[in-house]
Amino acid sequence: MPQFLNLSRAARLVGETRVALQKKIKDGVLPSFDGMVAAEDLLRIYPDIQFEDNTAFERVAQIKDKAFGKRVFERSLPDKEVLAARLTGLGKELAENHAALKRYQAVVEGLEKQLKRWDSGGAEMGAAAAALRMWMHQELAAGDAQARSTNLTIWDSFLRVMAAHVKIQPSGHEFFVEGADTLLEAALRAGLALNYACSNGNCGQCKARVVSGQIMKVRPHDYVIHEAEKAAGYALMCSNTAVTDVVIEAAEAQSTSDIPLQHITAHVKSIEPLGGQMLLLHLQTPRNNRLRFLAGQNATLQVGHSISAEFPVASCPCDDRNLQFHIRNAPGNRFADYVATRLQNGEAVAVEGPKGEFVLNEDSSRPLIFIAFGSGFAPVKSLIEHATALDTAESVHLYWVTSHEADLYFPNWPRAMADALDNFRYTPLVAGADLETAAGRQKHLINDLLQQVADKYPVLGNFDVYVAGSESLLDAAKEWLLAHGLPGTQLTMGAVR
Ligand code: FES
Repeated sequence: MPQFLNLSRAARLVGETRVALQKKIKDGVLPSFDGMVAAEDLLRIYPDIQFEDNTAFERVAQIKDKAFGKRVFERSLPDKEVLAARLTGLGKELAENHAALKRYQAVVEGLEKQLKRWDSGGAEMGAAAAALRMWMHQELAAGDAQARSTNLTIWDSFLRVMAAHVKIQPSGHEFFVEGADTLLEAALRAGLALNYACSNGNCGQCKARVVSGQIMKVRPHDYVIHEAEKAAGYALMCSNTAVTDVVIEAAEAQSTSDIPLQHITAHVKSIEPLGGQMLLLHLQTPRNNRLRFLAGQNATLQVGHSISAEFPVASCPCDDRNLQFHIRNAPGNRFADYVATRLQNGEAVAVEGPKGEFVLNEDSSRPLIFIAFGSGFAPVKSLIEHATALDTAESVHLYWVTSHEADLYFPNWPRAMADALDNFRYTPLVAGADLETAAGRQKHLINDLLQQVADKYPVLGNFDVYVAGSESLLDAAKEWLLAHGLPGTQLTMGAVR
């Protein structure tokens, strides 16, 4: 009987991204049945897969770990009670399969006895018995040829112990719960915008209904769920983890208007120089009061008594406690000057947000082009980390456009992404002259740089394009992109000061 796997699990087993398998289904290379794929088809397409050496999956996992600021070993093992429950479930399944196998063995033995009686029932019955016996032995022998399929089953069982699969209704979003993560943490890590507020069992905003599967409370909570709600399957996503594969009915933010404006006091974790004039300001929020935002959005920061400024969050909402900002330490900028010369580690910073509409269109499955002008790289980085977590884009190409080489202030990040992800490309474009001046008086300079995008992708209408930078550069880019065939509905722009 063919073994079927859902697409997310199949992707993990062969060390591919989900979107790569989706493409194979779309191209007719990999058959699918109701969103499931057969183990045999998977092995036919990936004959060289080594189950013990699933490096592609490891690479993606490590990139995500790095982006989310967590160490790999913290994520690798589930809570011991969860592990025990999963092993118990697997043991039960094994015992049931063992009992079924014994029944089939008894049936085969019984059949052998019947065939022996046929042998002495005349020439015709004897021939029928011989044919049936030969078929039966061939089928039993064929089991040996399925050893690789068995390997896949073993590896699948291992992954099921290490991580439970979650499907959200009605969106159909899917993710895995790994290590000691709660359902909420795992959903955020996967780039989903589930409803929540405190992350700490107090507000009830993350309450959702478990439709099927088993969950387990791993964090205490003060919020009271009434008995009738419990009986209907309601639970807090920030306090529970998944023991088995589960289906959950949960609300998700559909747009920026679904997320309220929040006021949070965060603390400085570090201030580090990046390249050029840029500083990396890393803030950490309290555990029970995090900033909920969508990738690409901004926040207003206030330091000292009254020095404030708005910046894009350069990190991903999947790690909502750790907020990163790229700050240009330009002469005369009061905020930057305060950060560079006076702000200390541990000092409080008031955060107000989220703000802005520069967010990913998650309904689209078109490949993505990002064009970051200068420090427009900050919100683009957040969007790319988010798109990577979602794993729905067929390909991502980042063009980082700067006036001078030194303005590529964080070159290791896009290079590391390009090294690790097969579907990520990075092209730095350096003007060799001041871009802001060019936007006003030397538009041909910008047009020449953007022509490199069109040379690579002549049909821009096949892409969603995201552009971030100053207002004047956005205007210049918009004019050029629309004139070169990009529909206005596929262009999203974010202004960065
Ligand atoms: S987010 Fe507040 S109770 Fe879960």
